[in-house]
Amino acid sequence: MIKPFGEWRGKPAHIYEISNGSLSVGISDVGAAVQYIKVKTPSGFTDVCPGFDDAGEWAKSGTYLGATVGRVANRISGAKFSLGGKTYNLSRNDGQNCLHGGIEGFDKKFFKVLTEGAQGDDWHGNMLQLSLFSPDGDMGFPGNLNLLVTYKLEGSSLGIIYKARSDKDTLWAPTCHAYFNLGGASAAASSCGDMLRINADCFTPSGAGLIPTGEVRRVEGTPFDFRDFRAMGERIDEKDEQLAIAGGYDHNFVLRGEHAACAFSRESGIKLDIYTDMPGLHFYSGNFLGGNSAFGALAPRAAYALEAQFFSDAANIPSFEKPLLKAGEGQTHRIEYKFGRV
Ligand code: GLA
Repeated sequence: MIKPFGEWRGKPAHIYEISNGSLSVGISDVGAAVQYIKVKTPSGFTDVCPGFDDAGEWAKSGTYLGATVGRVANRISGAKFSLGGKTYNLSRNDGQNCLHGGIEGFDKKFFKVLTEGAQGDDWHGNMLQLSLFSPDGDMGFPGNLNLLVTYKLEGSSLGIIYKARSDKDTLWAPTCHAYFNLGGASAAASSCGDMLRINADCFTPSGAGLIPTGEVRRVEGTPFDFRDFRAMGERIDEKDEQLAIAGGYDHNFVLRGEHAACAFSRESGIKLDIYTDMPGLHFYSGNFLGGNSAFGALAPRAAYALEAQFFSDAANIPSFEKPLLKAGEGQTHRIEYKFGRV
């Protein structure tokens, strides 16, 4: 199914809906972004992923709701990095730093929809492929980069595959910036009651500008201990230096393995398991949310993002795994959202 999604930069935008009876997911051509995820429950479909109903408002909102983030998710300190003896200066869009790919990151771009038939009005499918060409020097990043994003439904899972290739050595670290409120996304509701487990023993504390200091700290004895289920907001207002820096959670967790996290809502009974092949999970509790979503004005903490990623500022912190994409070598990254019942 294809629906109008307002306009972006004078061009009509669209939402492509993929569905399979268990899930129904809306993906916009602007930003290859997840605008909603409707999950089948015994009493009908519940939307657990807030989005917008207008491309222009979405792109300008600064929330990155559901966006395919690129070229490099999260922050690059000083908006520069060195690779192969050369220093690259990037777009500064977060103080002195580069956030989520820069001022014209992938969230601001029209992706090309490749799935055959998906241009027709009566199209129904359970898979959508979108591509983007990002030229050499885009936002300061080296290399002509070709990206293919695949969204695929299998049972109650939404799989996302990012395939990228560049003609020069470059950095490449995507994420899906979907937000969740498993009780049912709505503008004013708080998501603080969602139960959350993050399969991480350590997190990476931040300093000024939310740039990681390079330290890897054990979560034990801190409000960052999500090794067992606890309500997302249970400790969010505690007096803690790291929570104060971010106004809540806005931190990277060091994953133990591919099963990154599990969350559920006692009210709706909806459960979400997240899997990824990337090393980190950025948990952002929606501290700066605002603006007009499809539901009305989204309140801070109305939803939270769980972004599978390479660690923030891995571009400049030598002890963090660098998201290197070698010239001519294709690379694939994967995220899976698997829904179930509590
Ligand atoms: C990321 C950042 C947050 C915020 C959101 C988008 O998760 O870490 O600080 O910028 O994106 O609003």
